[in-house]
Amino acid sequence: MSHSLENAIAVVTGGAAGIGRETCLKLGRMGARVIVSDIDTHSGEETAALLRTTGVEAHFVAADVGLEEDVKKLAGAAAEHNGGIDVWVSNAGIGGTPKKLHKITTEEWNHMMLLDLTSVFWSHKYAVPHMGKRGRDGSIINVASIAGLGGSPGLGPYAVAKAGVVSLTQTAALEMAKKNVRINAICPGWVETKIIDFAGESVQAEMRKQIPIGRFGTPAEVASLIGYLASPESSFITGSIFRADGGIKT
Ligand SMILES: NC(=O)c1ccc[n+]([C@@H]2O[C@H](COP(=O)([O-])OP(=O)(O)OC[C@H]3O[C@@H](n4cnc5c(N)ncnc54)[C@H](O)[C@@H]3O)[C@@H](O)[C@H]2O)c1
Repeated sequence: MSHSLENAIAVVTGGAAGIGRETCLKLGRMGARVIVSDIDTHSGEETAALLRTTGVEAHFVAADVGLEEDVKKLAGAAAEHNGGIDVWVSNAGIGGTPKKLHKITTEEWNHMMLLDLTSVFWSHKYAVPHMGKRGRDGSIINVASIAGLGGSPGLGPYAVAKAGVVSLTQTAALEMAKKNVRINAICPGWVETKIIDFAGESVQAEMRKQIPIGRFGTPAEVASLIGYLASPESSFITGSIFRADGGIKT
């Protein structure tokens, strides 16, 4: 798999930090030219610069996935400069403050749906027309969560949005199955990034105890699964949902 993305064009949303940054590095090591996108310009530029120091062709494009126009422009610019897009990772997303569903305000609900679900719809809508056009199959990887696969008390809107990402992936994959675009979703368990900062050290210790492997995952361990789904090594896989969860089964 090492260079199976030679000359592929890969776009990663939320590529500035955490799982997204590691995904950019992984796809770069696999030979892809990487477009790092994020709302955080400083860290996004830093990720692109880091890639370039390892010899990977990379640049940063600022985009807020909560703005339809930004997502449309990101896809359009990536395709225009490169004659299409081969890999798109819909990774950008936010966590939430733990709260029971009946305590959630409508604003909080809508905000979560916008950033964790509608954003993935926009990525799909604007990326798909540019995929499967550069002599290789397209691959979209949507980052959902194990929270979207079952009841997740306290994480209601997040869980609903991620369940939506799973469902969107399944339908999208069938719609594009004959169009040379594969679409899969991954569901990480708890991974060491700033998204789990909402939990203090004692809560994190409790969370760790619930993970059979006994520790949080690393962003690199999730990026490795994304790399596999991006590569032609997974050419018969579409519409599938993969967990990377250290054995936790919610
Ligand atoms: N860390 C975990 O435990 C975990 C578990 C399951 C799923 N996930 C999912 O993984 C994905 C990546 O999260 P992470 O854990 O790496 O967190 P992170 O906070 O380290 O990274 C998220 C990135 O998304 C960017 N982002 C946030 N809002 C954005 C917006 N509106 N437009 C563009 N970029 C935006 C942030 O700036 C950041 O760079 C998310 O979709 C998250 O829901 C994370």
